[in-house]
Amino acid sequence: MISQKSIQEVFDNVQVEDLIQDYITLKRRGVNMIGLCPFHDEKTPSFTVSPNKNIYKCFGCGKGGGPVQFIMEHDQLSFPEAIRALAAKYNITLEEDNKKDDKEYAAQKKQEESLYIINDFALKHYTDNLFNTQDGKLIGLSYFKERGFLEATIEKFQLGFALDDSKGFVTKALANLFKEAYLKEVGLMSQRGYDFFRNRVMFPIHSVSGKVIAFAGRTLSTQKSQPKYINSPETPIYNKRKILYGMHLAKAAIRKKENCLIVEGYTDVISLVQNGIENVVASSGTALTSAQVRLVKRFTDNVTFLYDGDTAGVKAAMRGLDLVLENGMNVSLVLLPDGEDPDSFVKANGNAGFEAYIEKEAKDFIFFKMDLLLKESESDPIKKAKVIQDIIGSIAKVREPIKRSLYVQQCSRALNVSEPILVKEVNKTIRSEIKQKQVQEERAQRRQSRERDNQPPPFQGPSPGEATGTPSLGPPPSEAGFPGEEYPDAAYDEWQDYPEDEVKHVQPSFVNTSTHEFQERDLARIVIEHGDKNVHQLWIEKTKEWKNEVEDDITIAELIYTEIFDVMGYFENEKYKQVITEGFNFVESTERNGSISDYFINHQEPSIASLAIDVLSEPYEFADWIGKGVYLNQKMPAWNFREDSRMSILMFKLKKMTQVLKILSERISNEENSQTRETLLKAFMEMQSQKSLLSKELGVVIPPK
Ligand code: UTP
Ligand code: MN
Repeated sequence: MISQKSIQEVFDNVQVEDLIQDYITLKRRGVNMIGLCPFHDEKTPSFTVSPNKNIYKCFGCGKGGGPVQFIMEHDQLSFPEAIRALAAKYNITLEEDNKKDDKEYAAQKKQEESLYIINDFALKHYTDNLFNTQDGKLIGLSYFKERGFLEATIEKFQLGFALDDSKGFVTKALANLFKEAYLKEVGLMSQRGYDFFRNRVMFPIHSVSGKVIAFAGRTLSTQKSQPKYINSPETPIYNKRKILYGMHLAKAAIRKKENCLIVEGYTDVISLVQNGIENVVASSGTALTSAQVRLVKRFTDNVTFLYDGDTAGVKAAMRGLDLVLENGMNVSLVLLPDGEDPDSFVKANGNAGFEAYIEKEAKDFIFFKMDLLLKESESDPIKKAKVIQDIIGSIAKVREPIKRSLYVQQCSRALNVSEPILVKEVNKTIRSEIKQKQVQEERAQRRQSRERDNQPPPFQGPSPGEATGTPSLGPPPSEAGFPGEEYPDAAYDEWQDYPEDEVKHVQPSFVNTSTHEFQERDLARIVIEHGDKNVHQLWIEKTKEWKNEVEDDITIAELIYTEIFDVMGYFENEKYKQVITEGFNFVESTERNGSISDYFINHQEPSIASLAIDVLSEPYEFADWIGKGVYLNQKMPAWNFREDSRMSILMFKLKKMTQVLKILSERISNEENSQTRETLLKAFMEMQSQKSLLSKELGVVIPPK
């Protein structure tokens, strides 16, 4: 694989007009160059090259890109092929990443395959013991039966028995020519050569697709010195943080019921399934991990924790709560009566009794958490402040704005904190969490790439040429890179020097899109063009340079992302959302090089790359603002990209708010529960007043619909 650094070197060293002039004749036209398009037949030139922006665009056929795209299109090359071709042409030496080669990958796959085969062999051994040996039947099987497990259930979960025999399994496996190293690797043979599981009833643990990846063995002895369960160690095929017990059997039911029940124990799962409650998995007694949450999310957005009343379990679940909320899921909790676990409860009450209980007792987890914590902190103000902070943290994890505002309203009442303050605190938390996440992800990425390259950690401290903290500004953007007049329209609008009729038949892609799409696209445009610039940055005419007005300023991409984070879920076009998110990631990354425009022009997804080319070659943006009836007392938006992005954000939010208001009003008219209706109504009114504030700020009167 070609290293990122080398790819950047190609981007930096190839001038588009140089390259293209080897293929077609270009004539200068204003700040651009123009020629006959090599990609379609034409008699009058509409193929345009911008040396400043290092891009080309044909206004006839719509093709456009940078040097790499040109070569790809012209010579029908893949991206790496194009990079290699350009490197050869311009004498750039390419570095290759020393990526794991395919052989190593194949070897790893082969090893995993062997481990699965051993587990299957062990599974057969343990089930065989259970049904066909005297001890198995006498001890294991009778224990299961005593617990009420039917034979069909035992078979369904492939339960088994490990005999009280120090080397029984190992001897048999070795006789069957399984390699000792693999037996140890998969955890069935101890380092000293004995059976790992002895005298225990066995619960195989399955992957989502139903392969046996590990085992848990429960002791039947009541001696306290014995751990109740022992589990296979982590192996290349078993990562306990990534699986949920019973998922291979539960997934279809989870989808169908649109809910995933989470219990603590293996036996709880088995017992519930036997009683016809199939949408159930076990977290195996620990707090949920993010990988487990993502696993559930593949099948449903609704999670119900089912715990016994003792607080230990609930506390564990509470630790998992934010994680689940963060993934946009709805979480409820059902507490079982004291002294009962799901296993005993379903045995005593049967399927119908169990389902009725869940229906009646399920509580929204955020409210549950609030109640519980408030009870605990009762008259201690310091503790209470902590509780409020904790609840704010949980609410901030809720991604859907309507839902979030409902939580704010209800919690404001219960906590006795004014709503605006709560809103402000929640928003603050959201922002700081976004940032934190970025930093973490970046660290993880760096660690990963270091591990991949097997390199020592880099020298700590700024390397030469790398600014500390704030991103380097680079040269001033081309739009402003001209001297003299105050509104140099022609120079500013690079494409404007084309004969009218040549430009006209180019359909700007937003013409036939919905009104929302225009706003979304506009934000994406600003991110692509100006995302890496600081918000408070002014072009100083006298000195001809950009000046930062504030220290530690945020970038445009950051501003846009955090401002619209609330309504991120309402994008009509995922592509624009992707640009805004990736733009934010790009500016937050300390390892970036090159400009944000370069990043998007050379994007690996063709649709993003062509969007970038389109927005960078569009002359229309200003005209369209006026067309939308927005009064601007500012100069050219692109001339002042701070104002440009502010306007775009406001317009965008206005649109989205209108949409959310519509959804809300529909919900209100359909809501049967009067209390819920009232809260919805309140949310509606709150948002409406925000909306009119926005409109005022924009100076637009939006006619009521
Ligand atoms: P429980 O003690 O509730 O076990 O622990 P259980 O599955 O209900 O077993 P029975 O009903 O007593 O037979 C809940 C879960 O915590 C994990 C297991 O996943 C268990 O199912 N656990 C518990 C361990 O991994 N090791 C232990 O020693 C105890
Ligand atoms: Mn139990």
